[in-house]
Amino acid sequence: MSKFWNKKINEIEPYVAGEQPKKGQKVIKLNTNENPYPPSPMARVILRTFDVNELRLYPDTNASDLLESVASVEGVKPSQVFAGNGSDEVLSLCFQTFFEKENNTALPVLTPEYSYSFYPVFEKFYDIRSLKIPLREDLRLDADDYVGVPNCGICIANPNAPTSRSITNDDIRKICKANPESAVIIDEAYAEFKDPYETAVSLLDECPNLCVVRTASKSYSLAGLRVGYAIASEELIEGLKRARDSFNSYPVDRLAQQIAAASVRDVKYHRECINRIIETRKYTEDELRKLGFSLPKSSANFVFARPCEGIDAQTLYKNLRAKGILVRYFDAEGINDRLRITIGTKEQMEEFIEAVKQEVNNAKNS
Ligand SMILES: Cc1ncc(COP(=O)(O)O)c(C=O)c1O
Repeated sequence: MSKFWNKKINEIEPYVAGEQPKKGQKVIKLNTNENPYPPSPMARVILRTFDVNELRLYPDTNASDLLESVASVEGVKPSQVFAGNGSDEVLSLCFQTFFEKENNTALPVLTPEYSYSFYPVFEKFYDIRSLKIPLREDLRLDADDYVGVPNCGICIANPNAPTSRSITNDDIRKICKANPESAVIIDEAYAEFKDPYETAVSLLDECPNLCVVRTASKSYSLAGLRVGYAIASEELIEGLKRARDSFNSYPVDRLAQQIAAASVRDVKYHRECINRIIETRKYTEDELRKLGFSLPKSSANFVFARPCEGIDAQTLYKNLRAKGILVRYFDAEGINDRLRITIGTKEQMEEFIEAVKQEVNNAKNS
């Protein structure tokens, strides 16, 4: 609390990011859904050849080259893409742009009961009413639950975090068509890890209220670069630009624009990394199930697992941490019996499984 802060800052409970170990600290880091593989070799080429003198000048507001790269890979027009400083910023601008309508302030934004924990922070920060829609059995999202519920907008992570479960494009179409007066944000931070791959971008022609948000942080291994983007109708993109230009006209720096654009164009390397993660995810899911853990089939680069009987999720989290393995535990009712575990390299996951096996044996013998 401070007398210098305004009411909102005194009252807000900020988002708490996953722990980042100090430089040089040796840990197996499976707690913030980063990618274990290096960024595209094209990123290294840009870093080697980048002219530092370019930094004298402000960057291109629209990150045009990046927009063109995304547009050509996703099969949309560059005018349908908007880039920001990480998808957190893009999502924050979406909440400011599309929700809490002037003539309808009483209506809530709909989000799943358990989802990305930044959404409730945005809602509080921008004074947007919210309605959490419960998930069904085993944390399944049912599209019918988003039909006939008055709202000022909808935001769904697909695949959802931390549940790892996904819905189909048919579900998204149903939600968009049932809510034609509302913008529907589909946060596709993890979409590339769906198997088979499916993206809501292919629904844009039939759903003018749909806004797909993506990030370079996960599948492109660029969490440290801070680049995210939205893909939507020109009308929605124009709204995001108005919000951006009332806040910070240069969200993506010159170096980040170039590295992200080159990485997005390196489609082959991108797919190779994703395929390796999907393969290791299968190994991790199988091994955890063999140990008696229960977990839904994951569509993301993490799994959300309930430990076997006799093992408490929080204790397991602490014991793994003591062994230098970081996973994510959420101290929230309804999900505090599970751990979210990022998929690392095969070697990292073998070490993780070995450590879990030891915990299971210790629990059995105690
Ligand atoms: C569902 C979801 N959306 C968005 C983000 C934000 O990603 P970034 O700001 O790194 O693009 C995350 C990060 O963990 C996430 O889990």
